[in-house]
Amino acid sequence: MGGMAGIPADLTALVGRRTEVAEVRRLLSASRLVTLTGAGGVGKTRVALRTAATVTRAFRDGVCVVELAGLRDPKLLAHTVATALGLVNQSGRATLDVVTGHVRGRRLLLVLDNCEHLVDACARLADTLLRAAPGIRVLTTSRHVLGVTGEQVFVVPPLPTPVPSRRPSVRELLTCPAVELFGRRAAAVLPGFEVTQDNAEAVAQLVQRLDGLPLAIELAAARMRTLTLDEMLARLEDRFALLTLGSRTALPRQRTLRALMDWSHALCTERERALWARVSVFSGGFDLGAAAAVCAADDLPAEALVDVVDGLVEKSVLTRHEHGGRARYRMLETVREYGQDRLAASGTAAAYRRRHRDHYLGLTAQAQAQWFGPEQAAWFTRLRLDHANLRVALDYCLTEPGEAAAGMRLAVTPRHYWITLGSLHEGRHWLDRLLAAERAQSSARATALGTYAYLGVLQGAIEEALPALDEYRAAAEHLEDASALAWARHHQALAAAFRWDLPRAAALFEAAATGHRALGDLGGATECTVKLAIAVWHLGDHDRALALCRECEAVTSAHGESWLRALTLFARGLLQWLGGDRDTTDGLAREAIRLMRPFHDWWDIAMCVELVAWSAEAAGATRRAAHLLGILRSLWETIGGTLSAAPFMAESHQRCEDAVRAALPAGEFDRAVRRGAAFSPAAALAYVLEEAPAPAPPPPRRPAHTGPDAPLTRREREVAGLVALGLSNKEIAASLVIAQRTAENHVERILAKLGFTSRSQVAVWVHEGRRGESASGAP
Ligand SMILES: Nc1ncnc2c1ncn2[C@@H]1O[C@H](COP(=O)(O)OP(=O)(O)OP(=O)(O)O)[C@@H](O)[C@H]1O
Ligand SMILES: [Mg+2]
Repeated sequence: MGGMAGIPADLTALVGRRTEVAEVRRLLSASRLVTLTGAGGVGKTRVALRTAATVTRAFRDGVCVVELAGLRDPKLLAHTVATALGLVNQSGRATLDVVTGHVRGRRLLLVLDNCEHLVDACARLADTLLRAAPGIRVLTTSRHVLGVTGEQVFVVPPLPTPVPSRRPSVRELLTCPAVELFGRRAAAVLPGFEVTQDNAEAVAQLVQRLDGLPLAIELAAARMRTLTLDEMLARLEDRFALLTLGSRTALPRQRTLRALMDWSHALCTERERALWARVSVFSGGFDLGAAAAVCAADDLPAEALVDVVDGLVEKSVLTRHEHGGRARYRMLETVREYGQDRLAASGTAAAYRRRHRDHYLGLTAQAQAQWFGPEQAAWFTRLRLDHANLRVALDYCLTEPGEAAAGMRLAVTPRHYWITLGSLHEGRHWLDRLLAAERAQSSARATALGTYAYLGVLQGAIEEALPALDEYRAAAEHLEDASALAWARHHQALAAAFRWDLPRAAALFEAAATGHRALGDLGGATECTVKLAIAVWHLGDHDRALALCRECEAVTSAHGESWLRALTLFARGLLQWLGGDRDTTDGLAREAIRLMRPFHDWWDIAMCVELVAWSAEAAGATRRAAHLLGILRSLWETIGGTLSAAPFMAESHQRCEDAVRAALPAGEFDRAVRRGAAFSPAAALAYVLEEAPAPAPPPPRRPAHTGPDAPLTRREREVAGLVALGLSNKEIAASLVIAQRTAENHVERILAKLGFTSRSQVAVWVHEGRRGESASGAP
């Protein structure tokens, strides 16, 4: 429920592409899987995103964009899609099942961007989802087609360039998209630049030379700061003449771009070239600190780095983005691959990949050291932004011989990273592979094994985890590692608590807390004590349980820590509730939710929302309680879990649900729950915290004139379908090969017959009317 990844905002205005977008939309109306293919940098991603933006209203549940360029491991594909959908799968179910369960019955467009390096995995995933969920459609961009039955392929052409044989006027030239793109980009680096009668011919020649390839045009335009148009043309002519050995035949498109990148590269300073190659080891962007740590060397001093980075931004090699006040830099995939080739050719790739890994090893250790303190949320956010880099570093540890132990350290640092990220599955995925890669016993391996098992316990795989936890403990004893021993007991205690063996759980929590404390591990000790409080309560010692909670509140607040403090507030709210002292529960739970908001730990947030819902019911706010139950329903669904992992809460939940159902008139309960469940994640949290009003009833979904016997002719239904996909009358006319006027008449008649005033009402009607009917097209 972290929120679905929508369409990212454009950094620059889109030039041209009307026809392509209309065509892709048409293909999407006829087929459920459309792949945009074409050379690197030709504009596939831009066309896909624009198409997605224009068909949004045709998809009731929206558009979800999954960026795959930074993903290397096909095994994490389902997980990456889940994350983009806002799912966190904290359960033990296979992530693909959770995704399939989520999209079934939904109407959404899934955009998989940059699939070329994961073609097989993407093909399997698309196939599975399309079969399971008739209401979804998939739009992919890939340099290679997926090869799935029913896939419609659209080859994205370069931008149109001026016809070479004629001498077009400036006016005509400016309507040519390749020229327009060049003009815009050149003006961005050279304010005041315009395409005029004087330079028209040079610009026209240049964009022709570049085959209308947008990325090539961008890179070339960025040189306008230092070169005149004529100089640029002359140099390009030389370079291209060399490549074609003077023959007049054109270069294949991939080679044009390659040549342009070579040229762009050659025009960089020595330092810029070095940095271009070295930063290609990052994935998903980097900040200046990381670039300095990984890429600085004698030939590229750290002090000079800011200028060198600026130089690459000016040359369109890097793009700059702001994240929470910090600048991050990214590269387009094609540009990054070029850098990787250069790095490989220099023979230093291994060294820089290692430095990259070392940097993240250091960063996570630093995060761990400061985790129990006021910087916790900031550290979490920072690591999450670098998640793709953490993956690259983990991957390095798996593929380089002898690095698995370092990988294990990385995968368990900070200790609660996977939990606060809501990604137990991914944590287990890496740990599992690392444990298989390195069998020699060590503290690192013992901790990795223990963490692997512990994440399993949290997913409900308790029986499977028990032997591994025993092994962890034995290893800790054998290695005389006091910290590992405390954690082993801590994890064993939780497993015992989940099996409702409370005396054992309490004894182990006590022992573990003592161990953590003796080592000065306040975080471990506090976490243990909160859980001990819940166990002690159920063993009957209520006073001690509440006293333990207060103790933890004092420690966490003294250290300005948030995540454990939230758990502590939750625990006290729950225990007071169970003891019949219910006035404070709501306030404690809300405070806990506020503290947990920056993290992705939806499991613990859901536990807190339970308390808020029960409190609402008890206070007589029945309708609000029903909305909250709806929010909980979708929360548990996105987590892929149920309350069954917390047996001490299930009964109160049921009692609350029964009471709310009984208090509301028939049908009202279901409606209110549905409304709550339909909230977006952000809106849901705002409602829980009463920062937002009650949900408005959704617009009527099935107007009076509709139904299976709606008075539309076949042709009108067909037109309505295209309207629902967002096609204009002109595009409908083109797609059905009828006159535009005829299309307009159809649309007018549809509106009149249905009593509608807008095309979006038609879209809603189409989707509602077609519900249950499997969508047209393949597969
Ligand atoms: N129509 C356009 N208008 C403006 N800019 C464009 C257009 N098409 C592409 N660009 C720019 O050109 C560059 C390459 O485009 P894009 O990333 O869409 O290509 P791609 O085909 O997806 O490349 P890759 O194969 O590397 O994924 C980007 O910087 C993009 O913003
Ligand atoms: Mg792309």
